[in-house]
Amino acid sequence: MAEPSRLRGWLTAWRVLILALVAVLIVLGVTLVVIAISDAEETKEGTERINALASSDNACVECHRRVTPGIVQQYGYSTMAAADVKCENCHEVRQDYAGAVEHEGTYVLNSPTTAMCETCHTTEVRQYYASRHGIPAYAAMVGLEGLTEDELAKYDAIPEAQVKPNAERNALYALEGPAVTRFACEGCHNIGRPAADGSIGQCQKCHLRHEFSLEQARKPETCNACHIGPDHPQWEIYVESPHGIAYHTGGERWNWDAEPGTLTVEDFPAATCAVCHISGFGATSTTHDVGDRLTWYLFQPISVRRPTWEDNMDRMQNVCSECHNTNFIEDLYTDGDVLVGAINAWVEESDSIIQPLKDAGLMTAEPFDEPIDFTYFNLWHHWGRTAKFGAWMQGPDYTQWHGAYEMLHDLAELRETADAKLAEAEDEAGQ
Ligand code: HEC
Ligand code: HEC
Ligand code: HEC
Ligand code: HEC
Ligand code: HEC
Ligand code: HEC
Ligand code: HEC
Ligand code: HEC
Repeated sequence: MAEPSRLRGWLTAWRVLILALVAVLIVLGVTLVVIAISDAEETKEGTERINALASSDNACVECHRRVTPGIVQQYGYSTMAAADVKCENCHEVRQDYAGAVEHEGTYVLNSPTTAMCETCHTTEVRQYYASRHGIPAYAAMVGLEGLTEDELAKYDAIPEAQVKPNAERNALYALEGPAVTRFACEGCHNIGRPAADGSIGQCQKCHLRHEFSLEQARKPETCNACHIGPDHPQWEIYVESPHGIAYHTGGERWNWDAEPGTLTVEDFPAATCAVCHISGFGATSTTHDVGDRLTWYLFQPISVRRPTWEDNMDRMQNVCSECHNTNFIEDLYTDGDVLVGAINAWVEESDSIIQPLKDAGLMTAEPFDEPIDFTYFNLWHHWGRTAKFGAWMQGPDYTQWHGAYEMLHDLAELRETADAKLAEAEDEAGQ
């Protein structure tokens, strides 16, 4: 009699055990699913990045992990660190290298130059040197007289540098002096600054160190560091353009890390600064020569055509035509050209208004020492340029209220001032 009841006891014990096991398995399963979901979420937000230097025993890394943890952390997440590019590849140089400083038993550059990047990125450096982001950007500030013979030769070798900065614009640099310009002009124009080793420019102006992230370089905020403000409001114009609206309302879904040279509308459904001016898109290949797709020198007081403007136009229009039809783009170019002509005419008019004052010696030879100098300068440098940029990059408020309207206002002011000065001079001559 005792046998069956003992058996039943065993069976009950087994049943409880199995039930408990099943319960444990269910809980485990649910936990795993929850973990998997939260992993997926992390991926979406890009938080599961791999730090390539996490267990590195490189001497620079080991010590700098303590001294400057931020730098090691950032560099660890870069694709260059993943590709085994070392701190030494950019920083370490021979003892006799221009700018070398002794450091922990070797010699380093505190600020790696484009010559260091060039050892691996020859194409990008060559294109950059051929662009106005190279030496012309520096010359725009210090003037041609601020360049060495060698730098001048480099400047002259750039087709896009055919237009040389005029003396009047350098005048501001001299007038304000180094105490100010170190934090003003230089903050932007050092993008073309020569280094001690003779190489030119600072790639890190767009590729923030030490992540050197493609996503960051591709986002328009990168250009916003310099292409902003009353004289070149490309950022503000972009923000109000349909392309900028698309970026600001849906950009977080775009494929910012797409392989360079292969970008399509799948990755970028609307244009960014980089898509139009730098990225390989459709039939147009990637370039670090930002003048390569432009037809006019829009920054000039009176705009003229670029040396190879027709080829440049093809490259830009090939980008547009990935998203727009040919007629739409060609019409825009025709109308844009007409607008450039109209703005040129207003600037020419401002010249003709002040010419009699110059002829009669009624303006000082010094730049920026009397109000009329500023009115004349603002007219083309701020409003004329802005009107042109607004038209080409879809910013109607800039073409109208920060452009054409301001030009008309300044023209009226110039006329009145000129007439008054001439009348005053006549009165004095008559007495
Ligand atoms: C034993 C520790 C140690 C090692 C090894 C080391 N560094 Fe440093 N490094 C330092 C310290 C300390 C500083 C100064 C940090 C500060 O002032 O905040 C420094 C500064 C620097 C600077 C900036 C210098 C400046 O004046 O702006 C660079 C660049 C640099 N290190 C690169 C390297 C590279 C590249 C290596 C490997 C070849 C390396 N370091 C190896 C400790 C080290
Ligand atoms: C791909 C090139 C490159 C690599 C690789 C690289 N750096 Fe740099 N590093 C730069 C550039 C560019 C600068 C900025 C110079 C400037 O703006 O003046 C810089 C600046 C620095 C500075 C001084 C500026 C500061 O913010 O203190 C230190 C220190 C430094 N790097 C350490 C390192 C260390 C450590 C590693 C390796 C973990 C490393 N770098 C790897 C390019 C590089
Ligand atoms: C020793 C060779 C070497 C040097 C020096 C070097 N790089 Fe690189 N760089 C690479 C390699 C390799 C890659 C490719 C990484 C990849 O695509 O996986 C790369 C990729 C890049 C990228 C693209 C990043 C991406 O996510 O695709 C940028 C931007 C870049 N480098 C900038 C620079 C700059 C700026 C300098 C100089 C300050 C520099 N590099 C110096 C080898 C180098
Ligand atoms: C906020 C950044 C920034 C500052 C500050 C700045 N510039 Fe510029 N500058 C630019 C940009 C961007 C352009 C290009 C505009 C274009 O191409 O449409 C430019 C264009 C120019 C040009 C015309 C291009 C050429 O090569 O002739 C000159 C000249 C110039 N700047 C001189 C100066 C001087 C001098 C200062 C200081 C008094 C200064 N800039 C301050 C960003 C800046
Ligand atoms: C005006 C901003 C700007 C400057 C300055 C700049 N870059 Fe770039 N760079 C970009 C952008 C934007 C991209 C991404 C292009 C794309 O969308 O494919 C890029 C991409 C790259 C890549 C990856 C290209 C590829 O096809 O794999 C390398 C390498 C690179 N840059 C190196 C450099 C070097 C070296 C310098 C200095 C000589 C430099 N960059 C200066 C904006 C800049
Ligand atoms: C650190 C400042 C700086 C940054 C960042 C910068 N630029 Fe520039 N850019 C300049 C200056 C200065 C000039 C004017 C150079 C000159 O003509 O003298 C210029 C000129 C240009 C031009 C006109 C070139 C020509 O041939 O006239 C284009 C287009 C341009 N930049 C696009 C870009 C784009 C796109 C980005 C962002 C990916 C960018 N820039 C980032 C400073 C900058
Ligand atoms: C939809 C494409 C597109 C976008 C987006 C775009 N641009 Fe442009 N950009 C153009 C065109 C087209 C021109 C005029 C080209 C010409 O001269 O033929 C131009 C002109 C310029 C110039 C004037 C160069 C000169 O001659 O003075 C600069 C600088 C510039 N763009 C920078 C930028 C920056 C910075 C951004 C982002 C904030 C940007 N662009 C966004 C298409 C674009
Ligand atoms: C990657 C796709 C893409 C590229 C490349 C592109 N655009 Fe666009 N563009 C768009 C989108 C999306 C809109 C918004 C459509 C709308 O307004 O409904 C737009 C709108 C426009 C508009 C309409 C403005 C308005 O107020 O209605 C103009 C003009 C324009 N783009 C010009 C250009 C030019 C010029 C280029 C080349 C320099 C260019 N686009 C390149 C996607 C693109």
